[in-house]
Amino acid sequence: MAFTKTTSNVSSTNTASTTILSYFHWSILITLLAVLSILVIYKLVNLLLQGNQKKKTLPPGPKSLPIIGCLHYIVGNKPAFRWMHSMMEKMNTQIACIRLGRVHVITVTSPEVGQELLLRQDSIFCSRPVHMSTEISTYGYLTVRTVAQHYCGNVIRKLMINKRYFGEGMVDGGPGPEEIEHVDSLFKILGYINAFSVSDYLPWLRRFDLDGHEKILRNALENIKKYNDPVIDERIHMWRVKKEKKEVQDILDVLILLTDDSIGSPLLTSSEIKAQILELMLAAVDNPSHATEWALAEMINEPKLLQRAVEELDEVVGKDRLVQESDLSNLNFIKACAREAFRLHPVSAFNVPHVSTADTNVAGYFIPKGSHVFISRTGLGRNPKMWKEPLKFKPERHLNPDGSQVVLSDPKLGLLSFSTGRRGCPGVVLGSTMTTMLLATLLHGFTWTMPPSMVSISLAEAEHDLTLSKPLVGLAKPRLAKNVYPTL
Ligand code: HEM
Repeated sequence: MAFTKTTSNVSSTNTASTTILSYFHWSILITLLAVLSILVIYKLVNLLLQGNQKKKTLPPGPKSLPIIGCLHYIVGNKPAFRWMHSMMEKMNTQIACIRLGRVHVITVTSPEVGQELLLRQDSIFCSRPVHMSTEISTYGYLTVRTVAQHYCGNVIRKLMINKRYFGEGMVDGGPGPEEIEHVDSLFKILGYINAFSVSDYLPWLRRFDLDGHEKILRNALENIKKYNDPVIDERIHMWRVKKEKKEVQDILDVLILLTDDSIGSPLLTSSEIKAQILELMLAAVDNPSHATEWALAEMINEPKLLQRAVEELDEVVGKDRLVQESDLSNLNFIKACAREAFRLHPVSAFNVPHVSTADTNVAGYFIPKGSHVFISRTGLGRNPKMWKEPLKFKPERHLNPDGSQVVLSDPKLGLLSFSTGRRGCPGVVLGSTMTTMLLATLLHGFTWTMPPSMVSISLAEAEHDLTLSKPLVGLAKPRLAKNVYPTL
């Protein structure tokens, strides 16, 4: 009995452990099957979504992982633009495809492919992707970066909202704390636009703000709104509520007074006007100041270039007055220096992205609908197939043999300054004028040398963007009659 009982105990223990074991096996099997099915479904969905894309050849690019694509490269190799360019160089290609999340990012460094995208297939590539950043959308030593940035800030504030100062300003005409905060915030936003934020490609990660970009952008935006919004609100009130009869004095007035003819009411809401003003302020400040700082740095290292520029200025403007807008058409060498700065030292590695609205073929490769296209500004401007000694600052390469006007734009995309096609920059004239005026005025007003402790100005680029690694500091000695300066 006892034996039997024991046997039966053993047998029941065995049955229990067999049940647990088989249950364990079953659960492993079911988990494995579930994982397998998810992978198969993922693959099938991918194949279905991609349709026959697989049969078509995408531009070459790095191998990508499921779901994240190449985002691990972007996160591990900051700044992304440097990794993208060196990857293209290693692959010896002028067009590449990098999958980020579900998005095909197409990078381009060839002028021919650029023209194909922005001119011949402009209708397909004229849209823009929605990114998080766009949604939030001394007499003596002179630190030229500050001077150049505030010059641009002054011009654009005057044009947009007819204001040089938000506060008291400085007695010498310099920026007050309010203007410093305003301009710094504009540059902060510009620094993070198209920074290849992870959440642009895996939108469900946006709430975590993994790279911290959103917080920085929102803070900068708040700073700008603090100054812009009261001016805009007051002006809207003046025109639309009080209906005062005044002369239109700036772009803000123009935007407020635009009307929808079909219903006779204002075309733009207050938020739309605020967004437009911000966009135009952002669009105007960085390119001219960046190009001018680089041009001056290069020229201080090459005194012959400085001398040639000053000779032109003295011939066209003389020494008894400042440079005026009417002089610019005769300042071809100055414009060549600015154009050379745009070629060699663009403000950003890539153009503002475009998105394709249909499947198409470019340069023999298939480009799927929804791809984000990034044309490389450095890739075009420093392309050795296009330019002799591409890394040398040689403004004379832009002078036309027949002496005709040098212009800062280049629709053939030998360099990408204002871009081209229907999404090309609408501010070519203003942008060219601001850049040439700034560079000409600094060269005309001062004799530039390097500080005595220096042998040459370092032309090293910053690690994370394309600015000079250290803001240019030059010794600026007034070279015009004293009475000319107070009007500065
Ligand atoms: C030297 C100065 C400037 C340069 C080099 C420059 C360059 C550019 C570039 C490369 C683009 C992108 C084009 C593309 O997507 O293919 C652009 C767009 C734009 N620029 Fe400029 N820009 C300058 C000044 C200005 C100024 C002064 C304004 C107006 C106040 C302005 C307004 C705009 C606007 C509104 C866009 C967006 C156009 C669109 O999305 O359709 N820019 N600019």
